[in-house]
Amino acid sequence: MSGAEPAPAKVNLYLHVTGRRVDGYHLLDSLAVFGPAADAVAAAPGEALCLTLDGPFAAGLAAEPDNLVLRAARALAEAVGRPAAAALTLTKRLPVASGIGGGSADAAAALRALDRLWGTGLGEGGLAGIAAGLGADVPVCLAARPARMQGIGEVLLPAPALPEYGLLLVNPGVALATPAVFRARQGGFTPMAELPAAWPDAAAMARDLAALRNDLEPPAIALCPVIAEVLAAIRALPGCLLARMSGSGATCFGLFPDAEAARRAAALLPGGWWREGGAPHPVPAD
Ligand code: C5P
Repeated sequence: MSGAEPAPAKVNLYLHVTGRRVDGYHLLDSLAVFGPAADAVAAAPGEALCLTLDGPFAAGLAAEPDNLVLRAARALAEAVGRPAAAALTLTKRLPVASGIGGGSADAAAALRALDRLWGTGLGEGGLAGIAAGLGADVPVCLAARPARMQGIGEVLLPAPALPEYGLLLVNPGVALATPAVFRARQGGFTPMAELPAAWPDAAAMARDLAALRNDLEPPAIALCPVIAEVLAAIRALPGCLLARMSGSGATCFGLFPDAEAARRAAALLPGGWWREGGAPHPVPAD
């Protein structure tokens, strides 16, 4: 058994829709960070390709043939010309269809786990190419480090140097389909953000981010009004510097000065909503 690969939640600190491609995909400008919650993908040798699901959100995800983890395994096997044989286990701790990259993070973790198990020697560039073919968010999830996303999400640029901060994720238990949220969007396009090279502290980071937006937040609230309640509840928590929705929702995040403040805030929220507060995912070593 090779060790389980973490599939941390992807959080879009802002997300501007800057344009639209002729194929319908939207051009984005977004700053993605990771954590504090994660799924995990483990890969062990096997005769054929099989996927076992466990964890609190396993029931929301049937092991269908088009599951992104299985598609990732097949794509990697095909790229290196070997049989797609492995026993995969996906531990689903993140809510499904919730704007924090779950399926994309799982696919990226599967690529990393199988790359290790099979010793493909593809390297970062080879894996990134496969990731881009699996979905717009899979490349950033493969990198699993803070990054500025452009193009349709597959163009990764360095993020500003980030200070210490804490994140609180809150999901009201309503699944939102990404294409439906993009379709419900009204209005034009938003210019790309201007970001500094570094933020000295979480308060300065929150001030700059507050001038930016998630363009998918208004259409997501129109489809799922409870998101506005979640945002108001996060905003009212002690120490909260910024509250915003991530990706196409419905998960929202709060930005806090440190991990402990985010953890304390998580305990103060009303029951019934999934929440996780803590430190961002540690940046992987190069
Ligand atoms: O690439 P992925 O399968 O994750 O995207 C899901 C859907 O979200 C796409 O089919 C598209 O409708 C929408 N999308 C988009 N523009 C993006 C990313 C996703 O319109 N940049």
